[in-house]
Amino acid sequence: MNSFEETIERLQSQGLERSLKDIESDVGGYCHFQGKRMLNLSSNDYLGLATCPELKQAFMHMVADNPQYLSFGSGSSRLLTGNTSIYSQTEEALKTWYGSEAAVFFNSGYHANSGILPAISEKKDLILSDKLCHASIIDGIRLSTADQVRYRHADYQHLESILEKKRDQYQHVFIVSESVFSMDGDEADLKKLVELKKKFKAILYVDEAHAVGAMGQTGLGLCEVQGVTKDIDIIVGTMGKAMASVGAYAILNNTLKQVMVNKVRTLIFTTALPAINMAWSKFIIERMPRFTDVRKTLKQLVDKCNASIAEMGFAPSNGYIIPIVVGDNQVAVALAEHLQKKGFLIFPIRPPTVPKGTARLRISLTANLHFNDMDKAMNEIAAYLKS
Ligand SMILES: Cc1ncc(COP(=O)(O)O)c(C=O)c1O
Repeated sequence: MNSFEETIERLQSQGLERSLKDIESDVGGYCHFQGKRMLNLSSNDYLGLATCPELKQAFMHMVADNPQYLSFGSGSSRLLTGNTSIYSQTEEALKTWYGSEAAVFFNSGYHANSGILPAISEKKDLILSDKLCHASIIDGIRLSTADQVRYRHADYQHLESILEKKRDQYQHVFIVSESVFSMDGDEADLKKLVELKKKFKAILYVDEAHAVGAMGQTGLGLCEVQGVTKDIDIIVGTMGKAMASVGAYAILNNTLKQVMVNKVRTLIFTTALPAINMAWSKFIIERMPRFTDVRKTLKQLVDKCNASIAEMGFAPSNGYIIPIVVGDNQVAVALAEHLQKKGFLIFPIRPPTVPKGTARLRISLTANLHFNDMDKAMNEIAAYLKS
């Protein structure tokens, strides 16, 4: 077996070493890194709400009137004494927002995705997942005893052909997809997935981590944009991106909620989030339908940036996640370092986060960025890659 030192040396030689960095956020799309104020092009705070001073101030006023939320440690799991009433209130707020039968809150998207799938599937079941699903979904599938097949990314003919061959051999079949894919920014055809789930009597599980809050008239993500919110059996939303908080939730029916509470190990065997975090999540959820203007601002920035990316000869993305795929790990590292020197905080994304040979920069647009700054960043990228 390799020594730990050899493991690190191997990662270094492959351009795959990772490290933790101290980054302090600032207003207006900026942050501080290594003593420099930089434009933050790597944040998933798509609406810019996590750094919004007015919102924070309004929350602090609300907390001043509700001192029960001033709790920074829950002391126990939700199943014991950690489930303060703010949990039920937050789940009620989610139900109202989605018009759903039930909602269940988790500590993070990683907890939700890695916990739900192994809890709801059994040996005689089959899980079909998009090949580019997030690591948390992959880990959930790995923990499940069900059979599993990955269909080619967004290739619904491939998915259908697997369903045709295999549906009858299993009790439950789960179809699992992200809605907006985290590293490519492209969108799943949720209508097609709903059609397939109905045709083959499957259960549809959609992770809206990168869509919720940022898309849809009332912020209900790509499900809302494609008009399929009510047709999806389990919608997972995460609170750590456009929702500007921490945690995650599943939207589902009462029976599935009971299964979650009884069987999801990442819900049962972990300490509940503190009341202060839950209060902030509820505060954001209740306001989310009204952030229409912020979503519009983001959309305008997205359209302008993608038009200018296309002019530069890169493949545009339609959304706020813009991958600049360079292929080689070392090139991705060098380009990110170059951009950091120029004042743009951006990191290389390498395997295993993305498939081998597709290392990239992942630009994340947020509503508090300005087009002029973005234009400068993109010109820097284009000039570097040309040279
Ligand atoms: C698609 C997707 N699902 C789930 C997660 C995990 O969510 P969390 O950060 O809340 O653990 C992420 C990334 O963080 C993600 O990109």
